[in-house]
Amino acid sequence: MTIHSEHDPSGPLDGARVAVTGGTSGLGLALLRELRDRHARVAFVARNRARVDEVARDHPGSFGIVGDVARKDDIYPVALQIVGDLGGLDVLINNASSLGSAPLALLGDTDCEDFELALATNVLGPFRLTKALLGALSASAREGRGGVVLNVSSDAAMNPYPGWGAYGASKAALHHLSRIWNEELSNDGLSVLSLDPGDMDTPLHAIAVPDADPETLKRPETAARELADAIAAALTRRRVGVVERVATLQEAGA
Ligand SMILES: NC(=O)c1ccc[n+]([C@@H]2O[C@H](COP(=O)([O-])OP(=O)(O)OC[C@H]3O[C@@H](n4cnc5c(N)ncnc54)[C@H](OP(=O)(O)O)[C@@H]3O)[C@@H](O)[C@H]2O)c1
Repeated sequence: MTIHSEHDPSGPLDGARVAVTGGTSGLGLALLRELRDRHARVAFVARNRARVDEVARDHPGSFGIVGDVARKDDIYPVALQIVGDLGGLDVLINNASSLGSAPLALLGDTDCEDFELALATNVLGPFRLTKALLGALSASAREGRGGVVLNVSSDAAMNPYPGWGAYGASKAALHHLSRIWNEELSNDGLSVLSLDPGDMDTPLHAIAVPDADPETLKRPETAARELADAIAAALTRRRVGVVERVATLQEAGA
């Protein structure tokens, strides 16, 4: 197995099989481009078929998959397409997200259906998709390729911003779920990360904060670079861990 240096920007993701939910806009689209630049093989998921086809056409070699992560019935077909298209999976990025109420609303004015939508998209969807792909990710870890799940979090997961109730509560749940899953899967060679990309100039942010000055916001391309670095570092740690375990077993004569 070749271990690439963490400092080589293209190394650990070179040839990695990566799935990104919400890859047709904002951060997800920037991730698709960043990962392709690092020679990863990328499948992406979004609901709007015309937009999925357009992005796939503009990014030859990528695999566009139409699906709604908030819909239970879409999860297995999406998971099967991901594994079929990529021939396995090394990295899953749960990036697709819903604000719940749009425009944002105080909790007392939030419809239960909007709260349900935020939970279905931001917590249950990532949970179901990760669960459906655990076999493929574990196989990747056993083969020494690493295995990483990145759940895209938010500062609203940590801070009680008025008006961000449904979204903030769902992102807090996703963050805690990620931490628990990381503990549970660590012995299987998998890492589950939960990272906040920062306030970015994207369509989601424009809906949430319509009067924000885009100049004050982070470019999604910058956040994508930072997240790709974090994934690359986690893959490297996992691969080095496998090599060290094999060396220990060999020393012990096992
Ligand atoms: N923008 C920020 O300032 C900010 C700050 C902190 C965290 N974040 C997080 O960063 C991530 C990306 O946000 P963004 O601002 O880039 O959002 P965005 O520009 O609105 O893009 C959302 C993407 O997700 C897809 N999507 C939405 N709901 C989906 C569903 N149910 N199933 C499948 N795909 C779905 C959308 O395509 P379709 O509509 O065609 O499905 C689109 O491709 C999110 O997790 C968000 O919470 C953003």
